[in-house]
Amino acid sequence: MSRAVSQLFRTKPINADHHAVDTGLRRSLGALDLTLLGIGGIIGAGIFVLTGHAAATQAGPAIVVSYLIAGLACAIAALAYAELAAMIGGCGSAYGYAYASMGELIAWIIGWDLILEYGVATSAVAIGWSGYFNNILAAAGIELPELLRQPPGAGGLINLPAAGIVLLLSVLLALGVKESARTNAVMVFVKLLAIGIFVFVALNRVEPANWQPFMPFGWAGTIQGAALIFFAYIGFDAVSTAADEARQPQRDLPIGIIGSLLVCTLIYILVAGLLTGVAPYATLNTASPVAEVMLKLGYPWAAGLIAAGAIAGLTSVMLVLMYGLSRVSLAMARDRLLPPVFSSLHPKTQTPVRVILAAGVLMALIAGLTPIGDVAELVNIGTLAAFVLVCAGVVVLRFTRPEVRRPFRVPGSPLVPLVGVLACFWLMVSLPLVTWIRFFIWLLLGCAVYFFYSRKRSTLARSGL
Ligand code: ALA
Repeated sequence: MSRAVSQLFRTKPINADHHAVDTGLRRSLGALDLTLLGIGGIIGAGIFVLTGHAAATQAGPAIVVSYLIAGLACAIAALAYAELAAMIGGCGSAYGYAYASMGELIAWIIGWDLILEYGVATSAVAIGWSGYFNNILAAAGIELPELLRQPPGAGGLINLPAAGIVLLLSVLLALGVKESARTNAVMVFVKLLAIGIFVFVALNRVEPANWQPFMPFGWAGTIQGAALIFFAYIGFDAVSTAADEARQPQRDLPIGIIGSLLVCTLIYILVAGLLTGVAPYATLNTASPVAEVMLKLGYPWAAGLIAAGAIAGLTSVMLVLMYGLSRVSLAMARDRLLPPVFSSLHPKTQTPVRVILAAGVLMALIAGLTPIGDVAELVNIGTLAAFVLVCAGVVVLRFTRPEVRRPFRVPGSPLVPLVGVLACFWLMVSLPLVTWIRFFIWLLLGCAVYFFYSRKRSTLARSGL
């Protein structure tokens, strides 16, 4: 009995030379690739869609403050990710760090949680993508029949564009990490250009009166807004899953993680401030507020370019999150917590083709057949839980493994990471009850899988307990 309990908390050894280990994945990404990967994963549905909804219904013009609060919580989490990614490495990211600091059970829970985060976010963003895609088709005079645009229960058979884009991106990911990174870079360029155009046009059209009243829903609304638009920041964490594919992970992962978050935080605060400055906040609760505002101001060409930027943004977000999902699942399969059939790499592309395609088909089915588009908050709670554990992991390892070399250190530890734990937990608490219930159901399911399947098969368990 005590053996069984001790297995749950047994930690995996840290390999200080992890950056030199050949894991079979191709080490081809540099600091710029990693930063672009982060920006690719971050800027998407959050800024282009959720900002309007959160400003209109929760925060008002104080959405800027919401972005600041969520950005600060993310900044601490990013520092913690940077420390652990450079110190422990591994494509399992937070799952791997928890395995090294808090033991197998917590590691499993966080791995299971990351699967939820990346899987649900990809499927949800695919549904948003499908809406934009249908608009483009309609503009070109082509109308997909309702049966192929909606899932069952909403008057259709399948959301074909949503399922199709997920499958297409899976194929791209399977082809190679460098190929995926190049495609990502192009999309990052397009979306940054779109945002640049918005900023350029909006700067001249601000009516300061729109910023009054600044906080119509009070502090409570501003914090709830922060918990919702936290979604916009998700994605920089996926950079850490590239640890085994980075050429110089110990130097470049901290640059990619912190650099991408910094750039996006500045962009978000600027865009949120301008969006509420050019239009009354109450009018922003629409499907594509940033593009629609441009239309209302009389710049149809800018609206078109911003719609293109939004599509590029949603595409790169899906690509990066699916990438993260495949690498975390690979790490879990290598530890035998998931079936070992998913642990192999394709000899030519050096990518985990099986896990990519299996996850791709599953997410395509979810995106095509369910109304999962409305569950951004479920993604938020899962990600925040990972952030809490990563910040806590920094503190735990400073005490349990002080001797391991840390190429990057969170400044002000343990105080700063502890503030990170509290800030992320505070945002979790600000999410609706229904989100907590869904989250617990997912975790209970995960515990069942662990106790009935993974625990007995785990490599660590079989290696000497
Ligand atoms: N941060 C990503 C987005 O906003 C998930 O779409």
